[in-house]
Amino acid sequence: MLVPKLWLGNPVHEAPAWERARKNEQYFSKYGQLTGCPYKGTIMIICIGAGPGDVAYLTQRGAELIRNADVVAGFDAVINVVQSLIPDTAQTVLMNYRDQTEQLAQVAIEHHAGKNCVVVFMGDIHFSGFQYLERVERACGHPVETVPGISSAQILASRAKVCFDETTFITFHRRGDLDPFKRHLVHVLQDQRNAIVIPCPWDAARSFMPRHIAAYLLEQGISPDHPTEVWENLTRSEAEWHGTLADCATKEFSDMSIMLIRTRTPMSSQIEPAMEPLPDAD
Ligand SMILES: C[S@@+](CC[C@H](N)C(=O)[O-])C[C@H]1O[C@@H](n2cnc3c(N)ncnc32)[C@H](O)[C@@H]1O
Repeated sequence: MLVPKLWLGNPVHEAPAWERARKNEQYFSKYGQLTGCPYKGTIMIICIGAGPGDVAYLTQRGAELIRNADVVAGFDAVINVVQSLIPDTAQTVLMNYRDQTEQLAQVAIEHHAGKNCVVVFMGDIHFSGFQYLERVERACGHPVETVPGISSAQILASRAKVCFDETTFITFHRRGDLDPFKRHLVHVLQDQRNAIVIPCPWDAARSFMPRHIAAYLLEQGISPDHPTEVWENLTRSEAEWHGTLADCATKEFSDMSIMLIRTRTPMSSQIEPAMEPLPDAD
């Protein structure tokens, strides 16, 4: 039997990861047809966004990948979101901030043993998820494919009716130096754009929650009058707070919160003028 060639390629010189992923997906499809083995659908490890919390916001593609997985991995709270879709036969690898490196190493072993692995991320991978993605890729030793999910930022934009084009997204929920991101937030507001901001809820030394963010911006000379909103637990037990940046500097919010700081000078409409009403026909 003629079996098509699996193309692992060289990640740096031969092709981008997505191209290798596509070629290998064709391989598994062809292999399935030739051997009669059920084709499970895609390459062996994939990272997917679980959406903002209610499983109804998980994409159909994400659900399909979980249903066909041999191994489903992720933080406890995220696995809870997709629990109903995990097959009984699948192995679940749970992790937290402290043990994520060891647990991802375990997932990588299963992946290299040929198991179909899915790593599930909160919201969308591409907003405040790239450091975790980097850990997955480091554990596996190669780039992995991503399937986007619906971000908490998208739900916030929908609830608060803000246009992405006029808004910048910034997260402080990350390791490393936060200063460049703080400066960027100041520039965004000086440039009369809205900002959607994920705060940092970690230990007291690093914590940069809405009240700290507001206090920092006020210190930098940003107007206290910016309309500000904080939304908590979007798509689950939602709570919303509306006030000014100055008000926000004294408010406490839970870890599961996301902040919107609106520009004080929203862009005027740039669409064509409304049509004149037709004269009444007598
Ligand atoms: C590591 S970030 C991941 C964000 C995620 N990738 C996304 O696209 O929503 C986690 C933080 O996002 C915010 N967040 C995530 N889901 C949320 C929700 N449903 N409601 C409010 N904030 C949320 C919280 O600040 C939480 O601590």
